[in-house]
Amino acid sequence: MKLFRPLWTHFKPLAEEKSVDKIKHLPVLAKEITQILEPRDGQYFIDMTFGGGGHTKYLLSTHKKITIFALDRDPAAFQRAIVLAKDVDAKENGQKVIPLLGRFSELSTLMGKLKVPKHFVDGAIMDLGASSFQFEEGPRGFSLRANGPLDMRMDADRFPNMPTAADVVNTLGAEELAKIFKTYGEEKYAMKVAQTIIDSRFMMKSLRTTQELATLVANVLGGERYDQLGRSAHPATKVFQALRIFVNNEMNEISHGIDTVSRYLKRSEHPQTDDDNDLVTEERAKGGLLGVISFHSLEDKIVKGKFVGLKPTKAEKNTIAYERPDLEPVIERERKTWKFYQTRIIYPSENEVNLNPRSRSAKLRFGVRLNDA
Ligand SMILES: C[S@@+](CC[C@H](N)C(=O)[O-])C[C@H]1O[C@@H](n2cnc3c(N)ncnc32)[C@H](O)[C@@H]1O
Repeated sequence: MKLFRPLWTHFKPLAEEKSVDKIKHLPVLAKEITQILEPRDGQYFIDMTFGGGGHTKYLLSTHKKITIFALDRDPAAFQRAIVLAKDVDAKENGQKVIPLLGRFSELSTLMGKLKVPKHFVDGAIMDLGASSFQFEEGPRGFSLRANGPLDMRMDADRFPNMPTAADVVNTLGAEELAKIFKTYGEEKYAMKVAQTIIDSRFMMKSLRTTQELATLVANVLGGERYDQLGRSAHPATKVFQALRIFVNNEMNEISHGIDTVSRYLKRSEHPQTDDDNDLVTEERAKGGLLGVISFHSLEDKIVKGKFVGLKPTKAEKNTIAYERPDLEPVIERERKTWKFYQTRIIYPSENEVNLNPRSRSAKLRFGVRLNDA
């Protein structure tokens, strides 16, 4: 697969686009995560998906003297983390935020540079997917509504050889495109959309903007569509989701992220058993907790698979992702590293869904890091 650099480095955002400070961002299930992580003075946490800092700020609002490693692959999120870290330092209240720029799969390198020992951290959060900032800023190229270059790279320009969504739709063949739309978007008409994209190359040469792709897909799929929860959705939603997941190698990253963070969480003294009962508070206190919020079944299957010790999912192992030189393939799970802290899934309350409709599809699962004995 050969992919090329995009052609539109001078793209100008449309005047009506939302400015970054107008983007409303509400963290999902923040109260529930904080209650379960239950920060105490002197503890360390990793926010694996800092984004707008919503979860980090919620943890800090407990006023406990905690240190949070704030990771994000997006340079804009990293800048927000730097601003927050300075504010927190200025308060001199025993709290600390340490911004880290990188992917889940870069966590070991970043922690290694800081000389953070293995099995040192008390809790971690992963709030999967893209942030409101990424979704709503036209120039980032994730948005179905605000026009922008067809980009979708969460890392922005950090990796010069990383393909953009435009590189993908303008260079791959119909079979490969259909595979992406089907695997990562669960798009029923994957081949029809892929073939239309190939046909459009004769007329338009290349698809350059989010609007061009959204319109093309809407024309071929037509009509109104509804998501799993019965909400009306743009006909190109699944295609956009699929491209975003592919461009950012998201499923593979989640898999690596959960494995990597497990090396930094404290290990429970609780012996490994097959018994699925909830762990009692005392045992939880000894093992680091990982809370993961997923927004669709592809993500959730990986999270559940990791916690339960199932075989890697198809999306996680996808062969299209294997061809990418930037990440090792997923390793078959060998032994149980995790135990569900609560076997039940935590969903947002009705109140939260009313306030923040994006939270509607969220699922929160917790795992306790077991010992390796
Ligand atoms: C849903 S948002 C998180 C929002 C955040 N919890 C908040 O309350 O503001 C997900 C964030 O995770 C980041 N992200 C996604 N995949 C990542 C990866 N593999 N490595 C590092 N960051 C990632 C995205 O860049 C995005 O900023």
